[in-house]
Amino acid sequence: MKKVKHFLHISDYGSEELWDILNLSKEVKAKFRNREDYTPFKNKSLAMIFAKPSARTRVSFETGFEWMGGHALFLGPTDIGIGKREAIKDISRVFSRYNDMIMARLFDHNHILKLAEYSTIPIVNGLTDYNHPCQIMADIFTVWEHLGNIENVKIVYMGDGNNIVHSWLHLAMCFPLNFVCCCPKGYEPDKDLVKQSKDAGISTIEITHDPKSAVKDADVIYTDVWASMGQKDEAKAREKIFKDFQVNEELMALTGKNTLFMHCLPAERDREVTDGVMESDNSIVFDQAENRLHVQNAIMIKLSE
Ligand code: CP
Ligand code: NVA
Repeated sequence: MKKVKHFLHISDYGSEELWDILNLSKEVKAKFRNREDYTPFKNKSLAMIFAKPSARTRVSFETGFEWMGGHALFLGPTDIGIGKREAIKDISRVFSRYNDMIMARLFDHNHILKLAEYSTIPIVNGLTDYNHPCQIMADIFTVWEHLGNIENVKIVYMGDGNNIVHSWLHLAMCFPLNFVCCCPKGYEPDKDLVKQSKDAGISTIEITHDPKSAVKDADVIYTDVWASMGQKDEAKAREKIFKDFQVNEELMALTGKNTLFMHCLPAERDREVTDGVMESDNSIVFDQAENRLHVQNAIMIKLSE
């Protein structure tokens, strides 16, 4: 029997396969922009399971899958009660009989691993507390579009060492990057993953706590909310802890070069990033958001091959 492919972590793939996804993203982006007839998912269905809120992930997956000829079903936090109303391994086997692919946004990373373990159809990770692989694939595609290359680009991530950082670290195990995570003490990314990504020997990885020196020579400054979904009750306390890590005009000016600004969105303006930086010419946040759709389309096509 053919082994089913999932998209759970970027580091499950080799650099050649990741390049295949990026190259295909470019092709499907051109087709989508022209609204060409392109129906690789004709008569297929995608179940989209959301245990957390979403704007981009829901709309980009649904729009992309339907454009490619398929039907996408939205299942919100109160619809199927994944892990609460019934066992994940049961949902996994039931949907495997109905659908052709599942995209899931869940809290616990172990839940998506469980979903994948029992599924006979591809599972796409649409974010967990641990990582967000589709986002970072769209991000590196966006960097490639803007800079023309990605080799050894200096990406400085400013803020919480969260799921976004974990996916950057996974990518850094496959592509040579110069990746810096600048966060308050106590908010570092997962220690084992940092060690693993350094040991991979592909990229330069640095975890630091001084924003002013971290941004020097940055090609990209990237940030994300200080309190992620599931942590919003900590938002007030985190505001004090993270205040020196705001991406503002002064910080952008310290890089010494023309630096791009990126954010996975949703942004909390004038918290982790100022309105001015979000609206500046160097901000490519909406290119990133658009590219979610194209890169995910490419990922889904590759999984179904
Ligand atoms: N960046 C991202 O995943 O956005 P949503 O939470 O709106 O899906
Ligand atoms: N770190 C954020 C990313 C949102 C796309 C969160 O998990 O809420």
